[in-house]
Amino acid sequence: MKNCAVFCSGFGSNLQALIAAVNRGRIPARIALVVSDCVDAYALVRAKKAGIPILAVDRSEFKTREDYDAYIIRRLKKQAIDYVILAGYMRIIGPRFVSCYKNKIVNIHPALLPSFKGVHGIKDALAYGVKITGVTVHFVDAELDAGPIILQGAVAVKADDTEDSLARRIHRLEHRLYPEAVRLLVQNKLSVKGRNVLIRR
Ligand code: GAR
Repeated sequence: MKNCAVFCSGFGSNLQALIAAVNRGRIPARIALVVSDCVDAYALVRAKKAGIPILAVDRSEFKTREDYDAYIIRRLKKQAIDYVILAGYMRIIGPRFVSCYKNKIVNIHPALLPSFKGVHGIKDALAYGVKITGVTVHFVDAELDAGPIILQGAVAVKADDTEDSLARRIHRLEHRLYPEAVRLLVQNKLSVKGRNVLIRR
């Protein structure tokens, strides 16, 4: 059974959806570690409740991002982590980390990439006035929100949507899409050919 580490910075609702999918046997893997850069992230409470070991690392205790990443990589290797699942992790993964886990790091983004990259995907899409936005699950490479796309799902924007109402529908979709993408990943059903991800179902 493969070991996953889930990285979170905040609320952890995607972590919760992944825990539920593992518990139902939908994802045949173990969540062996939850990593957070915020010591008070609610995601850590969820991990503890589920009996998952946690690693909370304060970035400010490290001189450089390279030192911070190197520490995390050491801890991942120690726990024999096979896959890194970013679920609302609001930090950039450095090039060394990416190359250590090539095509083994995935991220979920609350917009249809390549539109609305960055940390305000929902707000930016709403402000731009798009009629359709959505969710993207992608491999992580050295560039921000730019790796090959695994799955996408669309969400229609309503005329009276606020950031909160749109976010609720985006999150509902995320909680279905991410477990499915992680299942495909850990079952080795994904292969990357340039920008394209081939899925064997
Ligand atoms: C999710 O909507 C995820 O797509 C987003 O953070 C939220 C985390 O929610 N990620 C990004 O914006 C990455 N750039 P959660 O903590 O409840 O899972």
